[in-house]
Amino acid sequence: MIKPTMMDYHRHIIVCVGERCSDNNQGQKLYDMLGDKFKKAGLNTGDLRVKRSRATCFGTCRSGPLLCVQPDGIWYYDVTEEKLDRIIKEHFIQGKIIDEWVFHQGPGCKSND
Ligand code: FES
Repeated sequence: MIKPTMMDYHRHIIVCVGERCSDNNQGQKLYDMLGDKFKKAGLNTGDLRVKRSRATCFGTCRSGPLLCVQPDGIWYYDVTEEKLDRIIKEHFIQGKIIDEWVFHQGPGCKSND
């Protein structure tokens, strides 16, 4: 067996691409934008690198697209491209969670306090 390798990352974003929480493949479309957006924001490499993955269902199938951000323990709902741009700028670069779009905070949650 070959041991897998992975680049270091600061945050890991997981996008639900399942069909039950958003219409018209919105989750997949959002996921497909991440590579370019992370490059433009300088998040594809370096200390703030964000790793991206997709999942087919989080078990919370409504008001998607849904994003899970770890290790912050933040779950965003109803994410549009415009909201994603703000999440990239404010959360991923400035470290400020956008509370109004959060539907759940996990045990590793870092609040803005
Ligand atoms: S399909 Fe997205 S949470 Fe279930």
